[in-house]
Amino acid sequence: MFSFFRPFIFKLEPERAHRLAIESLKLNYLPKSFFKTENEEMLEIKAFNKKFPNPIGLAAGFDKSAEVYNSLFRFGFGFVEIGTVTPVKQYGNPKPRIFRLERDEAMINRLGFNNDGIKLISERITKNKSNGILGINIGPNKNTENQEEDFILGFKNFYNLADYITINISSPNTENLRDFHQVEKLIKLLKLIKKEKEKYNSQIPIMLKISPDIEDKTIEEIADVAINNSITALILTNTTNKNRNKLIESNKNEIGGLSGKPLENISNNLIKKFYKKLKNKVLIIGVGGIDSGKSAYNKIISGATLLQLYTGMVYKGPEVVKNIKKDLINHLKQDGVKNFKEIIGQGN
Ligand SMILES: Cc1cc2nc3c(=O)[nH]c(=O)nc-3n(C[C@H](O)[C@H](O)[C@H](O)COP(=O)(O)O)c2cc1C
Repeated sequence: MFSFFRPFIFKLEPERAHRLAIESLKLNYLPKSFFKTENEEMLEIKAFNKKFPNPIGLAAGFDKSAEVYNSLFRFGFGFVEIGTVTPVKQYGNPKPRIFRLERDEAMINRLGFNNDGIKLISERITKNKSNGILGINIGPNKNTENQEEDFILGFKNFYNLADYITINISSPNTENLRDFHQVEKLIKLLKLIKKEKEKYNSQIPIMLKISPDIEDKTIEEIADVAINNSITALILTNTTNKNRNKLIESNKNEIGGLSGKPLENISNNLIKKFYKKLKNKVLIIGVGGIDSGKSAYNKIISGATLLQLYTGMVYKGPEVVKNIKKDLINHLKQDGVKNFKEIIGQGN
C-alpha cells in the first residue's frame, strides 16, 4: 500500500508531508485489524511494571504535540513517546529544517523542538486518555534562562499523565543541551528530578535519552550515574552530528541530526557498550535505523529490551510495524525461541 503512495508523498516537502500525515491520523479511520499480527504473545514483555504487547515503540519527534497518539497505537506500536515538549510553545528553527536523504535511507532534521508547549499538550492528554503505554519526552525552551528549571516544569506537569518520562539531553538542535552529558551537570539535574519525584510521592519511571556522539569515558560515567540515580532506562540513541562522509545524497551536509540507516551501527555499538556496563540494573531502549525484523533483532541481541523507530516509518510506511513484528516472530521460531526476552543481549 505505502509503496504505491510513496512517490506522491515524497514529492511533497518533508515537513508538509509530515503535517499531512498528522492531519490524516486525526481522522482515525484505520481499522485496528488491518495491522493485526499472529502470535504476538511471543513479543510480549513486562518492563517497569507495565505489560508491553510488543517492544516496538514510536520514537519521540513524530507526535511532538500529542495530537494523534491514539491513532498511532492502531499501527500496532507497543508504546508511543510524544514530545519533545518544552514549557512554552515554540516555533523552532526557520524552515526548511527537515531533509530526506532518500538513497541513504536517512533524514537530517534541525527542527529545534517545535511544539505546542506544556499547557496545551497537557490539556490534550487529559481530555484524550491514552489507549496504550504513553511516554512523554521533555526538554528546555530555546530562550530559557535555566534549562534545569524547564526540565522540572516538564516533570511537574506530566508525571501524572504519562507511563514514563524521558529526560532529553541529546537533541543536537538546542544550544548547550548536550552539555548535560557532563557528569556533574547530569548528576545535579537528576538529583533535582528525584527531589520532585519524592515531593509528589511519584513512582513514575524516568528514562534518559543519550547522544550517539559520546566518548567511551562518557559511556562509563553515564552508566554509573544512571545506576546510582534510579534511572529506569537509557534511550540509545538520539540523532548523530557525525557520519556524513559515506552518504550519497547532496544534502548530506545540512546542519542537524542524522537519523535512519547510517545511525544503525553507531547506535548498536553504543548499546553493546552500555549493556556491558549497566549489568541489567538499567534497561536499554534501542533506537536508530530500525526498519525490519533483522534490524530489530540486532538491537535486541545488542542489549535492548525495548525498541523505537521513526525514520523507518517515513521510508516504509505504517505497515513497517506489522512487518517488523512478523519477521521478528519468524526469526524467533527458526531459533526455537518462545519469547524475544530470551535473546536480549545475546549478541555480546
Ligand atoms: C524529524 C525528526 C524529529 C525528531 N524530534 C525529536 C524530538 O523532538 N525529541 C527526541 O528526543 N528525538 C527526536 N528525534 C529523534 C528520534 O526520536 C530518534 O532518536 C532518531 O531519529 C533515531 O531513530 P530512527 O533512525 O528510527 O529515526 C527526531 C527525529 C526525527 C527524524
